[in-house]
Amino acid sequence: MIPAVLPTYNRAPLHFVKGEGSWLVEEDGRRFLDLGSGIAVNALGHANPDLVAALTEQANKLWHVSNLYEIPQQEALAEKLVASSFADTVFFTNSGTESCELAVKMARKYWFEKGHPEKVEIITFSGCFHGRSTAAIAASGSEKMVKGFGPVLPGFRHVDWGDHDALHAAINENTAAILVEPIQGEGGIRPLPDQCLQGLRKLCDEKGVLLVLDEVQCGMGRTGRLFAHEWAGVDPDIMMVAKGIGGGFPLGAVLATEEAATGMVAGTHGSTYGGNPLACAVGAAVMDRVADPDFLEDVNRRAGLLSQKLEGLVAAHPDVFEGVRGLGLMIGLKCRKAPADLVKAGYDAGVITVPAADNVLRLLPALNITDDEIAEAVSRLDAAATAVEAA
Ligand SMILES: Cc1ncc(COP(=O)(O)O)c(C=O)c1O
Repeated sequence: MIPAVLPTYNRAPLHFVKGEGSWLVEEDGRRFLDLGSGIAVNALGHANPDLVAALTEQANKLWHVSNLYEIPQQEALAEKLVASSFADTVFFTNSGTESCELAVKMARKYWFEKGHPEKVEIITFSGCFHGRSTAAIAASGSEKMVKGFGPVLPGFRHVDWGDHDALHAAINENTAAILVEPIQGEGGIRPLPDQCLQGLRKLCDEKGVLLVLDEVQCGMGRTGRLFAHEWAGVDPDIMMVAKGIGGGFPLGAVLATEEAATGMVAGTHGSTYGGNPLACAVGAAVMDRVADPDFLEDVNRRAGLLSQKLEGLVAAHPDVFEGVRGLGLMIGLKCRKAPADLVKAGYDAGVITVPAADNVLRLLPALNITDDEIAEAVSRLDAAATAVEAA
């Protein structure tokens, strides 16, 4: 018999009842160090007091009003994002997938309004992940994502990650945008080197193509800068954000330059919940923390400490791990064993990790994980690796 919850996930038999900072507590009392953060969502850990205060304060005043009215919490968060980024304007969504939908619509509408309705094609890269909607699975293009779901939304071209010649060949008079994650998350923590992102920006400018970045997983301080593209010193035209921006409350956003957003006038897009007062109150509290340069400096310091310890872990288990990659606190351990086995062994050792493609074990801890927790996490990963080695 089908379970009451549609069985689209292979769930681990863990039932968490409480979260405190970087710790998750299971129903039976076991405490787990959370290096997954709900897949890069709980950027400030579980039950962060500032976020709880922001949420409860707003909850006591007003939960929801329609976007038919002005929402001051939404305006305040948009202003913070605009002040801290390349963007001139922001639309709030509830998820990364919805941000993808709008990014695709915005890029196409831009060219339509410029008198180029033929420019609809969006170039994406192998291994990418942009969500599960019809547009997002078409953007990915992989058989695993699209098979069985009927006609695939047209207008996407897929290029192999790192194949510069194929990228140049894919651009034509119908190209609207290039859509790329500065660091592929689901694809296995694959960073786009700075010079490649700079090259992409240059190529987009030369060819008259919009650059759309998906920072749903790598944004909001995860790499040690507020947004990952800042490391390369180039700006996109449109950017998708979600996950960490709500610190665990469902919230996403599309950030854009005034020019890229020109087609999105009243009536062209909307969302019942997007930019809801509760979500934006929490989002503002997240921004106050993660956009603070001192906080980001600390993220970089913690990332250095964790990477250093992980190098030691890899060296101690050469049969299990091949290497460490990633940026900031978005880390991948390239494995020689099945990452799923390591995730499972991690459960026994009391540490939560997340598998990714390309035989990678993902570590996405809370950005405020402490030094002691980093040491404890690596010792638990060591126990997990030892168990997998022995199996
Ligand atoms: C890079 C990227 N884009 C988009 C998405 C989709 O976000 P959501 O699951 O919030 O719809 C994800 C989710 O993992 C992601 O990692």
